[in-house]
Amino acid sequence: MVKYDWQNEVALITGATSGLGKALALRAAELHSTVLLIARNQERLNKVAEEIRTNGGTPYIFQFDLTKAEKIADLYKKVIEKIPNPPTILINNAGYNAAGFIQNTPIKVYEDNYKVNTLAAIAFTQSVLPDMIREKKGAIVNIMSAAMYHSFPGMSSYYSSKFALRAIHESLKAEVSGYPIKTVYVDPGGFLSNYWKNMEKGNRLKNFKYPEHKTGRDPTEIAVKICNAIEHGREDINLGGFKDRVGYHLNYWASKIVDRLIVNGSKELLANRPNA
Ligand SMILES: NC(=O)c1ccc[n+]([C@@H]2O[C@H](COP(=O)([O-])OP(=O)(O)OC[C@H]3O[C@@H](n4cnc5c(N)ncnc54)[C@H](OP(=O)(O)O)[C@@H]3O)[C@@H](O)[C@H]2O)c1
Repeated sequence: MVKYDWQNEVALITGATSGLGKALALRAAELHSTVLLIARNQERLNKVAEEIRTNGGTPYIFQFDLTKAEKIADLYKKVIEKIPNPPTILINNAGYNAAGFIQNTPIKVYEDNYKVNTLAAIAFTQSVLPDMIREKKGAIVNIMSAAMYHSFPGMSSYYSSKFALRAIHESLKAEVSGYPIKTVYVDPGGFLSNYWKNMEKGNRLKNFKYPEHKTGRDPTEIAVKICNAIEHGREDINLGGFKDRVGYHLNYWASKIVDRLIVNGSKELLANRPNA
């Protein structure tokens, strides 16, 4: 079995300026891993890097907008030139929710959301795989969501992006079987971050108040669990709460009940439909 000892790893983390990605970067650095941070906001990247350096870590930052997913292969070439060793751990974490009803959400909104949440994960996987196969070591970690189990109204873009990521993950797992490469899926469950603040609300949902988490788990706690689980060779990391697990089983065994519960629980949201 391939061992992951953080101090010998090079971890590439997308969406490393906020929430879970930032917490993972800080934790991996705390465990003496070299960290490669990717996000759009240069100022926030500098701040995370500074925090890591102050704690004695070695960060490399790369400012990049993942809606340009087709340019990730070029970005990766630049990354490789700057770092001493290729990444041994890839964490596809960046993600956001572009909310809106299917009827009037522009295709461009879906396109950008899929690029960040799904296609970027594919492109980074394509980039790191040859190096990981050659180096005989690698872990590809995909940050999923309870969203990969059942979709909700007004969130088809986000949820379908996570459904797709799950399918990619399952194919990848089979495609790397027999190689010294691990695929790790993480359902982190809910936690405090800028997810709700960064949610893009389209058309008539602009003023809709989502029941966002006002309290919840600290992403640092989630990051510690994820890093431990990777180190101990776990491939399925399910950190969702009891409700998530019940929902998952109920969806499998009694999907009609779940459909009804979702519609009943979404009455306020559905009142904003384009024709309502
Ligand atoms: N929060 C939750 O309760 C929850 C639950 C389940 C799953 N998740 C998943 O956890 C992951 C992390 O989310 P979070 O809650 O930590 O959200 P967050 O605080 O909003 O952080 C999102 C990160 O993604 C980056 N990002 C967004 N769009 C980008 C783009 N176009 N190009 C490059 N980077 C981009 C952001 O950086 P810049 O703005 O600097 O680009 C930021 O670092 C996501 O995949 C999310 O779906 C979250």
